[in-house]
Amino acid sequence: MDNIQIIIDKINYLKTKRNAVVLAHNYERGEIQDIADFTGDSLGLSQQAIDQEADIIVFCGVHFMAESAAILSPEKKVLLPEIHAGCPMASMVTADALREEKKKYPKAAVVCYVNSTAEVKAESDICCTSANAVEVVNSLEEDEILFVPDKNLADYVSRFTTKKIIPWNGYCPTHNQILPEDIIKAKEAHPNAEVIAHPECRREVLDISEKVLSTTGMLNYAKESDSKEFIIATENGMLHRLRKENPEKSFYISSEFAVCPEMKAINLHTLLQSLELNQYQITVPENVRAKSKDSLDRMMKIKRNR
Ligand code: 13P
Ligand code: SF4
Repeated sequence: MDNIQIIIDKINYLKTKRNAVVLAHNYERGEIQDIADFTGDSLGLSQQAIDQEADIIVFCGVHFMAESAAILSPEKKVLLPEIHAGCPMASMVTADALREEKKKYPKAAVVCYVNSTAEVKAESDICCTSANAVEVVNSLEEDEILFVPDKNLADYVSRFTTKKIIPWNGYCPTHNQILPEDIIKAKEAHPNAEVIAHPECRREVLDISEKVLSTTGMLNYAKESDSKEFIIATENGMLHRLRKENPEKSFYISSEFAVCPEMKAINLHTLLQSLELNQYQITVPENVRAKSKDSLDRMMKIKRNR
């Protein structure tokens, strides 16, 4: 038996022994997605965290995702196998800075993308993900929306609402560096391919894409579509499941640089260590947890659309 198979067997053994469930985001390494009990987008994984009967949730993703699981399921032990796996976009807004900005727009509702810290969620009225951002914004009574932290998602939402969207100046470095030139080049190489982009991409990229979808939206669409070829404008880990679930179709990356190092930080070794050593447990102080849970609960009532 090779080394990798020994590690996989140990992970599976410990999962059963410790009543643990492994959740993995669609951008994780292929081998992590393959061993996970559930893979999905931010919204789907938050829901899975609630639904699981397990004692331990091992969250293979970045810090804010494990934090959301800890907020929603405080009775479970939530582990993040790599403590340094954080989201640079989530770090672009702090609770203090948001409190200051709120003073400038006292009538605005605050919508915060789940890619944010628990403290920022606690300062917000409602959360959203890429799968429901438009619906969340349109569900609110307020006419002004302070939207944090992703300026690209804010811009995308502004096209589907009559409300005034006040964007924060944050962005995902991985998506923001996908350029229209990359899409044009990929289209030249694959003229029959449909372009599917994530709304964290800049407007000029979305403008030349056929579909704008969350990561799970991409998986659903690729299955339904009659197209046989797709150019995928998002983090490149996305291609693993797309190819696995649609072996008769072809998927091409939009840019070789569309890789999020944070999402690649977890590997089979760190996953095994996490189960063996109970590391790293993610917790949220109760005063912050209760308020941030309100923002997540409000979001959960709104249906996904993308
Ligand atoms: P979704 O999986 O919700 O589309 O999010 C993308 C993302 O960037 C997560 O970090
Ligand atoms: Fe954050 Fe972007 Fe990485 Fe997602 S892909 S974790 S938004 S930096």
